[in-house]
Amino acid sequence: MFLSAAPKIKWPSDMKTLAPILVTGNLPASVLDALKREFQVECHAEDCPMSRSKLLHSIHDKVGLLSMITDDINEEFLDHAPELIMVANMAVGYNNIDLDAATRRGILVSNTPGVLTEATADLAFSLILGAARRIAEGDRMVREGHFRFWAPFHFLGREVSGKTLGIIGMGRIGKAVARRARGFQMPILYFSRNPLEKTEEEALDARYVPLNTLLGESDFVSLHVPLSSNTRHLIGEKEFARMKLTAFLINTSRGPIVDEKALLSALQNGAIAGAGIDVYENEPAITSGLEKLDQVLLLPHVGSATLETRTKMAAMATDNLLAGLRGEVPPNLINPEVLR
Ligand code: GLV
Repeated sequence: MFLSAAPKIKWPSDMKTLAPILVTGNLPASVLDALKREFQVECHAEDCPMSRSKLLHSIHDKVGLLSMITDDINEEFLDHAPELIMVANMAVGYNNIDLDAATRRGILVSNTPGVLTEATADLAFSLILGAARRIAEGDRMVREGHFRFWAPFHFLGREVSGKTLGIIGMGRIGKAVARRARGFQMPILYFSRNPLEKTEEEALDARYVPLNTLLGESDFVSLHVPLSSNTRHLIGEKEFARMKLTAFLINTSRGPIVDEKALLSALQNGAIAGAGIDVYENEPAITSGLEKLDQVLLLPHVGSATLETRTKMAAMATDNLLAGLRGEVPPNLINPEVLR
């Protein structure tokens, strides 16, 4: 499907002469080559985010942007991007983009859904197992030379098999976590904006319950909702107070969904038993004090970080960008209103 009828899109007159695009992450050459065949590519080929000043400077003449979640695509950024037609975010989440502002300016925005579902669900499950069985703490203990004996009630964790899993947000990733939990014979409760069809609930053996019921009955609570004004601080002091003293919180979605200070207090006061956290409220900073607690397993936002998945995400973002800049509808367009 072609966009040529779309009135809001401002096509540069010379699209045939290798128009400039910006790629803000270090992507595999095989993926970049596809872009280089059609565009003049400026690539931030370093393993750290592009600095704000460089980003604002580099975008001024670009028609396309392949962005990372560390790029804040807000009004200020868009003011610096008068030629921009399309932003292809290399992530399923797009809370780093002011979508309304991009839409108002007629800029196409896409994400990379689906390809990272299994990797992210694997990581959520690793955190469930890792937090319950004290994997990182045990590793630290051995490395530090403190493994001196075996004893029957020493270094005990909590059982995972057969325990109740509460999934908040039953989209693609929530369902993939549920599929894994079935292998561990875990009863599954879920709370979601849209309850599943009965047949899907039956297939996953998952029961829809109100949020408070889920918090009160689950041994593991795993978060899989996107970040929005409705989900910011969805889990705070009140919610921790409703959870079992023996429960674990798992977060592989977005940091601000959890009030991180409340998480620290809940862990310090024993309101919950532990947590497995991959994302933080003010990434890459973490609330001071978390690092001192053995009952929290802390990872550096690596939900989708496998070679296979990141390669697929890069290729998907590239396909979206190529489609949008060729005047076709990007397969994973998130703001189709731009076309109206
Ligand atoms: C990663 O965090 C993503 O949203 O893809």
